[in-house]
Amino acid sequence: MSSRKAAPAKAAANRRLGVLISGRGSNLQAITDAIAEQRLDAEIAVVISNRRDAPGLERARRAGIETVALRHTDYGSREAFDAAMVGELRQRDVGLVCLAGFMRLLSGSFVAAFPNAILNIHPSLLPAFVGLDAQRQAWEHGVKVSGATVHIVTPELDDGPIVRQAVVPVLPTDSADSLAARILVEEHRIYPEAIRVILDGGWRIDGRRFVEQP
Ligand code: GRF
Repeated sequence: MSSRKAAPAKAAANRRLGVLISGRGSNLQAITDAIAEQRLDAEIAVVISNRRDAPGLERARRAGIETVALRHTDYGSREAFDAAMVGELRQRDVGLVCLAGFMRLLSGSFVAAFPNAILNIHPSLLPAFVGLDAQRQAWEHGVKVSGATVHIVTPELDDGPIVRQAVVPVLPTDSADSLAARILVEEHRIYPEAIRVILDGGWRIDGRRFVEQP
């Protein structure tokens, strides 16, 4: 745990993002919008999807962003698929990888290729409700608040130092779907903000805590 000591002291020089998606890409859109509106000083170098039919690919193309579709089923192993993705990201000199609804576990070698430089967004207040369908898990459990989390990716699922969280109250009238819709609004707000915090530097990892300099 305490072995994660990497501590970028200065702003990251490389503001080139690689965004990994599997589906609709609304978080990708939020990042694209934040860049266009100059709330985020970054550039999306490439959007990679493991599904050719991911609607998010079309959003990226409309925004003039390069896209790559790599079908994981075309590769013999997770390691081989991940190595291909690392190759695509390196080829475009990506400095920060952003998972935005990417529905594949990453291998240890992918994570090691981008130390403390992979972010994920998860629709719950981690460490509660890891894995799939987190909004429904929270609703079924009967929690009174849930939310969203942006964290640095480690080889463990939905683990890793927490960069930003947003709290969303669960209303008595909520369904799992209405809760998910309100959580999504918060996801779109905190993901670009977390990316900015990472790129601006002035933070360190202490054990499993993400610590910003005052
Ligand atoms: C989001 O709820 C995100 O938190 C989760 O997957 C969903 C992706 O949605 N990891 P979108 O593709 O960004 O619209």
